[in-house]
Amino acid sequence: MIKGDGIGPEVVNAAITVLKGIEKKYNHHFTYTDILMGGCAIDAYGVPLRDEDVAFAKTTDAILLGSIGGNTNTSPWYKLPSDKRPEAGLLKIRKELGLFANLRPAVLYPELRYACPLKESISEKGFDMVIVRELTGGLYFGERDTKVINGEKVAHDNLVYTETEIRRIVKRAFEIALKRRKKVTSVDKANVLDSSRLWRSIVNEEAANYPEVEVEHMLVDNAAMQLVKDPAQFDVILTENMFGDILSDEASQVTGSIGMLSSASLRDDAFGMYEPSGGSAPDIAGKNIANPIATILSAAMMLRYSFDLDEEAVAIENAVKKVIEEGYRTFDIYKEGDKKVSTSEMGELIVSRL
Ligand code: NAD
Ligand code: IPM
Ligand code: MN
Repeated sequence: MIKGDGIGPEVVNAAITVLKGIEKKYNHHFTYTDILMGGCAIDAYGVPLRDEDVAFAKTTDAILLGSIGGNTNTSPWYKLPSDKRPEAGLLKIRKELGLFANLRPAVLYPELRYACPLKESISEKGFDMVIVRELTGGLYFGERDTKVINGEKVAHDNLVYTETEIRRIVKRAFEIALKRRKKVTSVDKANVLDSSRLWRSIVNEEAANYPEVEVEHMLVDNAAMQLVKDPAQFDVILTENMFGDILSDEASQVTGSIGMLSSASLRDDAFGMYEPSGGSAPDIAGKNIANPIATILSAAMMLRYSFDLDEEAVAIENAVKKVIEEGYRTFDIYKEGDKKVSTSEMGELIVSRL
């Protein structure tokens, strides 16, 4: 367990409530161990993630993560050099554990159509997509520095992708599409970037191995627009690290709230890290009001992908649906007439509906 900062501990505790319910109902025994990462680790140890905690994480079956970081304008953590800040811990654990495939499902529950900011003629069609985001390459992991050149500061961030890095995420997206509606939209900026042109050529090569899957290429600026124009057109969106980061927040809001968007960070074996797609939400932290559903659905993904407990995962997903159908809402998806509940109450309601 990496509870992290801000709302992290609140939403992870709600997910633990649900996992404990699963243990009881299905007679399992899970062992939970906390490690510190992010701002809390900086405060405790002076670094956002200790090597010994990475080593420990490598001995576990899965990680459930809340979120890390603080207010990037006001928190003292952001006066530190970039490799000592909270986010450096998150990037380090993703890289060290080789978690290259980040799956972010974005689904509009029929009962939450009112919370979707799109006009009714679009939201009434619903949507069910998964963003497959490359997670250990690209701009996030290229060399970066700021130097003084000819008397002025010059900052640069390198965007690097190898063929191997692209091919493994492309294959993963095709495999996922085979189990869904068999459509992959590969999002790139091939009209400008070399890395995108390499990406596109590898998608086309791999497409030949998956003849049942329909493939389309879409430029990222258009994709950002299509996501709000007609989200129902998407099944699997395959994209690189930075584009996936941005598009997944956009996709989350059309589901009603970022508090609904779960995620799994995977590699080729069963190990995975599971986390809500949103951040530490410093603006609402400590109030017990954050929506824990993204974290609870991430815990369900953990049971499915790392523990091979599909029935238990489905039980959590159905309990979430039930609570939504019954009208229980945290503030972010609340409308008049609903039953407003806190973070911990939402966890308890979901566990009681298992
Ligand atoms: P954020 O996702 O934390 O918050 C954006 C907005 O969404 C805020 O208004 C927040 O209140 C709301 N929100 C987020 N999660 C919510 C939830 N579960 N329920 C209800 N509302 C929710 O993004 P930000 O404000 O840009 O970033 C804050 C910090 O979080 C930064 O330090 C950033 O680096 C970090 N961050 C961490 C992760 C992670 O740990 N995986 C992800 C994104 C951002
Ligand atoms: C996310 C977050 C992280 C990312 C940040 C906190 C480094 O925004 O998981 O989406 O950009 O990957
Ligand atoms: Mn993000």
